[in-house]
Amino acid sequence: MSPLDPRFPHYMLQEIYEQPNALQRGIDHYFSSEHRKTTEEEFRLSARDAESVRRIRIVASGSSRFAGLYGEYVLERLGGIPVEVDYSSQYAYRDPLTEPGELTVFLTQSGTTADTIAAQVEAKKKGAKTVVICNVKDAPITKDADGVIYTHAGKEVAVAATKSFTAQLLALFALSLYFGDLRGSLSKVRLAELISQLQSLPESVGTVLKNKGLCKQVASKYLAQLTWMILARDVSYPIALETALKFKETAYVFAEGFPTGEVKHGPTAIVDSSLPIWMVMTRDPQDAHSVLRYEKSLSILKDLRSKGSPIIAVANADDELVAGLSQDFIPVPTTDPLLSPMIEVIPSQLTAYFLAVGRGKDVDNPRNLSKSVVVE
Ligand code: F6R
Repeated sequence: MSPLDPRFPHYMLQEIYEQPNALQRGIDHYFSSEHRKTTEEEFRLSARDAESVRRIRIVASGSSRFAGLYGEYVLERLGGIPVEVDYSSQYAYRDPLTEPGELTVFLTQSGTTADTIAAQVEAKKKGAKTVVICNVKDAPITKDADGVIYTHAGKEVAVAATKSFTAQLLALFALSLYFGDLRGSLSKVRLAELISQLQSLPESVGTVLKNKGLCKQVASKYLAQLTWMILARDVSYPIALETALKFKETAYVFAEGFPTGEVKHGPTAIVDSSLPIWMVMTRDPQDAHSVLRYEKSLSILKDLRSKGSPIIAVANADDELVAGLSQDFIPVPTTDPLLSPMIEVIPSQLTAYFLAVGRGKDVDNPRNLSKSVVVE
């Protein structure tokens, strides 16, 4: 086990802080000078393979599946390929239909998850081409894969995934750019713009980490709270799910994530002043679709506020409107909406960490969980 840096009381906090460097490593790896060549070597997917893909199915468990849901947005929008996401444990035993030209992507930070390995066996049986995205070199699942994409998070010791999760998002983003570029679904101008915005990602994550104190305050204010609602929209929705999982597994509080627009279709019945609502409210003023989605979320935020819910908003630093409407405001830098989830998840990780510490839980080794789930 790698030694704990004495500046950090727990591996989870250390690993949260390692994210700017881990992301930088990934960016350097996937996008170094000769972008296409490097990516092709890394992904072991030839240009011909990439061009012939008609559908991608992402199969994973837990946080990795949430990363996969993010992958669905970026691979469809940038790569121009239809994507489906499945739970490993479901895929393995539901006799899924596969079709020629289908690429099955297995996401697993450890590479040892029994459910995901069982799903890979099933996919191979059905003749699907498989790619594994993994954080551990030569992990068991990589052996039988047609292609392997490594994430570059470095060893993760804490059971709760943090840096391995953002590294998965980055790998999926890089894969999307690769497909988009090859298949012509992404213009050269947009490609260059996204790669340029990507360069500021490690710094933006560092900026959010400087707001550790705000997350600590939120955690101490809501320490006794045993239920949470987490809302986010569009490509940020997987972050609502990941936030809810982080709160559950580290602090042992029940949290459920919904797409923001879904809240009025049932969940609103449990909304009252006793239920804190964590809302991801970011927007990119340069992007009309993002602004439209933000406005829809804003009217929901106002409605939830009128019902008395305490709102904890993760929003852009210059958003005075949301700052004024929320009880607690955690600012994050503005970036392209497809990159924003890698930034929005940082306050969730920090708050989950401080909730766990405040509630006296075993932060790095939550009860009943293990880093490598080797049984189905
Ligand atoms: C959450 C977490 C788990 C794992 C899941 C899959 O913090 O760590 O939900 O994401 O058990 O693990 P891997 O990615 O190793 O297949």
